[in-house]
Amino acid sequence: MERITSGIEELDPLLEGGYPKGKGILITGSTGSGKTIMGIHFLYSNCSSGKKGLLVLTRELLEDVLLQAKTLGMDLEPFIDSGMLVVENIFQSRIQEAMLSSRLGKGLELAEKDRVGRIKILSENADAVVLDSLAALSSLQKCPGNEPLSKFGLIYSVLAEHKCTSLFLMDESMHNRVHGFADNLVFGKIELKLKEDSASGKLSRSLSVTKMRATKSPPGNVLFELTSSGIRIK
Ligand SMILES: Nc1ncnc2c1ncn2[C@@H]1O[C@H](COP(=O)(O)OP(=O)(O)OP(=O)(O)O)[C@@H](O)[C@H]1O
Ligand SMILES: [Mg+2]
Repeated sequence: MERITSGIEELDPLLEGGYPKGKGILITGSTGSGKTIMGIHFLYSNCSSGKKGLLVLTRELLEDVLLQAKTLGMDLEPFIDSGMLVVENIFQSRIQEAMLSSRLGKGLELAEKDRVGRIKILSENADAVVLDSLAALSSLQKCPGNEPLSKFGLIYSVLAEHKCTSLFLMDESMHNRVHGFADNLVFGKIELKLKEDSASGKLSRSLSVTKMRATKSPPGNVLFELTSSGIRIK
């Protein structure tokens, strides 16, 4: 099966060349574990080689993500300027819509309903998609039955139809709370872990590929560091 680079040099060989192309991968981890940075690697690397990227933000300011990317030597701004990377900031749109709706006295339901439609249009020509984060999106739209699965299922199928390779970033606590609803649907899952050594107080990070279809013996616990140039697998 065709692969697309993760943007993390040492991770690709562990995944038979990269993420399975055109598929959706769930990345979970606690706050600060490195989820957004994994997304930055993926977009930077693929946009650098001429692929089209889409970044969907649901709970962060774009400027914060761009600043983080820049400090790691992976400046995403030129790709946004050239149109190689499209950003849909649901978080910032929501703030604007909330202000507008309180001024006009109208509800927010329509704007919320249109989220999947927007992602559908924007992902049509995208190769590499990062949704940061899925947890926040789950609480945005009310779906029939109000189940997070149906909303995620909708977005997942839209991106799969467009053959986008997609990373769905999700906070661990949210993932546990909704009982891992997305695990069965996705093609692969990577768990990031952050551990504190009780004696030294030092943090150690590791990743585990707990599921990767079409991939022989995906790696178990792999230690990594967050350095000034991003994720470095030890
Ligand atoms: N230049 C750097 N050098 C070393 N470590 C860094 C650098 N920049 C960021 N980090 C580390 O990366 C962490 C942030 O990683 P990231 O934003 O990817 O986490 P996250 O899993 O997305 O967290 P959240 O769930 O809060 O969004 C910081 O807390 C810091 O420890
Ligand atoms: Mg993050």
